[in-house]
Amino acid sequence: MADVKPGLEGVLAAETTISLVDGSAGRLLYRGYEIGDLAAHGTFDSVTALLLDGEWPAAPEPLAPAGLDESVGAALRSLPADTAPLDALRTGVSAWGAARGLDWPPTAAQARELIALAPAIVGGFARLRSGGDPVDPAGSEGLGVAGRLLHAISGEQPEASRERALDAYFVCCAEHGLNASTFTARVVTSTHSDIASAVCGAVGALKGRLHGGAPSGVRDQLTQIGDVEHAERWIREALARGERLMGFGHRIYRTTDPRAEALRGVAEGLAADAEWLKLAIDVEDVALRLLAEHKPDRVLKTNVEYYASVVLDGVGLPSDLYTPAFAVARTAGWCAHVLEQAEHGRLIRPDAAYVGPSVRPLP
Ligand code: ACO
Repeated sequence: MADVKPGLEGVLAAETTISLVDGSAGRLLYRGYEIGDLAAHGTFDSVTALLLDGEWPAAPEPLAPAGLDESVGAALRSLPADTAPLDALRTGVSAWGAARGLDWPPTAAQARELIALAPAIVGGFARLRSGGDPVDPAGSEGLGVAGRLLHAISGEQPEASRERALDAYFVCCAEHGLNASTFTARVVTSTHSDIASAVCGAVGALKGRLHGGAPSGVRDQLTQIGDVEHAERWIREALARGERLMGFGHRIYRTTDPRAEALRGVAEGLAADAEWLKLAIDVEDVALRLLAEHKPDRVLKTNVEYYASVVLDGVGLPSDLYTPAFAVARTAGWCAHVLEQAEHGRLIRPDAAYVGPSVRPLP
């Protein structure tokens, strides 16, 4: 029997200097820096520079704002209003790449332009679908990428506390090793294709339920529980039905996801809805106790989605923009991997074990 690994678990497909995801220690480093320190003291725009260039920027400044040019604007306007916002992001990135006639090799300048464009696409589509027009990015001077997403959605200057909270969320989601979407971006790049094609592929991979995550699932769960007094009964019944608790467990982390810890602090600092936050904290305690009882042999701890849901709700994002917001942040990680793959990579081309019929005559 050939040694087939259908999920590629444990297969080392690249060397990287971008991030370390240490599941047993519950540690996440970007270029050697702890995620907790970056979330507390960095900005997403500085972290983007760190991921793309390899070093902390000497003079951190926001990425130059980008607006929707004619081709991207026309592509978004052509979409039905009920288009999934993640499909709109993929379409906008595709139109951007096509209009520029991008080719091999990808460059850091293209990466910066694309990362700055992503919030304009998501925010622009959010306005178009409700009958509005995309905002002029000139009004977002001085804001970072996260603040520009809020501005592109509402057309107004975001409150500083909300901007800071979304920025910290973006820092936490910017990069996470060779996850499915990042691997997709590297596979596309390995064929010497362009950066827009790689990011379109990555957005497509992120769209799947198993990867894009569902902070909105955490929100629904907390809404259904409603009051911590109901938590134990609600959770016991859900587990007895064989359901999974949203916001708990992780493929790699065997302890608390360090991003969950950082985002809990962000949620506490935001204090948008103190009762909702208290409910989340109290329900987390009950859930951890019951999960330990339910699966004593498996470490099931809080993951990034749990407090991401509280933060995204607190900054006022509608729940169908949670995953697109995540994609805006992750564009930084995707682009860093595209550049690394382009510089050091090799065509990614695994083998399959053939298990079909042996040679036979055509009927
Ligand atoms: N609630 C209840 N039971 C769980 C949970 C959970 N959240 N997570 C895992 N388990 C149980 C499984 O039912 C399984 O039990 P079994 O052995 O009796 O079948 C056991 O723990 C192992 O589960 P696996 O699916 O093998 O664990 P894996 O590490 O592959 O799963 C995953 C990781 C998909 C995140 C899982 O923990 C899950 O479904 N969590 C809930 C959804 C969620 O929060 N997703 C966001 C993840 S973070 C991110 O994507 C960025």
